[in-house]
Amino acid sequence: MRKWKTNARKRVDHYASHITGKTKIVGVIGDPVEHSCSPQMHNAAFSDVGLDYVYVPFHVRPADLRAALEGFKACGIIGVNVTVPYKQRVIPFLDQISQEAALIGAANTLIFEQGKITGENTDASGFLKGMKHAGHELPRNGSALVIGAGGSARAIAVALAREKLQSIVIANRTTSKAVALAADLSDKTSVDIRGMGLDDARLPDTVSMSQLIVNTASASMDITRPLLIRPEWLTPQSIVYDIIYTPPETRLLKVAMTQGCHTIGGLGMLLYQGAIAFEKWTQVSPPIELMRRTLQQALGQM
Ligand code: ATR
Repeated sequence: MRKWKTNARKRVDHYASHITGKTKIVGVIGDPVEHSCSPQMHNAAFSDVGLDYVYVPFHVRPADLRAALEGFKACGIIGVNVTVPYKQRVIPFLDQISQEAALIGAANTLIFEQGKITGENTDASGFLKGMKHAGHELPRNGSALVIGAGGSARAIAVALAREKLQSIVIANRTTSKAVALAADLSDKTSVDIRGMGLDDARLPDTVSMSQLIVNTASASMDITRPLLIRPEWLTPQSIVYDIIYTPPETRLLKVAMTQGCHTIGGLGMLLYQGAIAFEKWTQVSPPIELMRRTLQQALGQM
């Protein structure tokens, strides 16, 4: 017990010892925030490239969101990432918003500059980079199926629409959410986007005809739950991208592999959405491979 405490203290001292009066502060806000691996990933990256920055988790309660943002401005904080449940809730407090964050309706990266808060969204680009760096091309003239209709699905549907896929189907447990999201995004983009329930009779054919299938539904975290689509609907050569990163190989990915599909796990999207934020705050290229290894370690995947 005593030995553990000594080691823990050494580790804390190690991280804190480089902080000076000049150190710049970034961080993440969420409720909860304890699960976030972003502090490890960003602090390792700052240290690697020799930037005098520190990345801090801020547990902000819903009633304190406005005060926290005002406090960040007042304290000269450079920027924060935004995680659950605030990606949409921060929007009314922004002074400026990027076109993409406005289209997604959510911001996951804030920049505090000259007393103003700018909201950006790096989830869509992180999703696309995760795919590219896994060695896969988007099926530009093809169709995609997105499972889920929450914030992540929205960012991914925007990414796919921006890349001009021919058609996108959003399938969700709660049909009305999929239909509403599809209607909103097809209005705002020129892409054919439709919504349906996971119990829709057209789902098997939609899965079979989609060159890209993206899962965003958190049900994928639980390996004991039944799959949301049936393995036999999957056709070889289609790409199955599960953005859930714990476990690294979800049941959906395992099944997709046995059906001969190409598969992509969610760690890349997590990594790249963070790396893009890092670059926005620092104007320095992030050390991607180190950040990937740090994330894998933090998630117990190494
Ligand atoms: P995120 O911001 O990561 O997208 P979210 O907004 O909580 O997270 O969305 C989670 C998605 O997973 C939702 O689409 C949810 O479906 P509902 O809209 O019907 O709630 C989906 N989801 C969660 N658990 C599920 C389950 N057991 N079966 C099917 N879908 C599930």
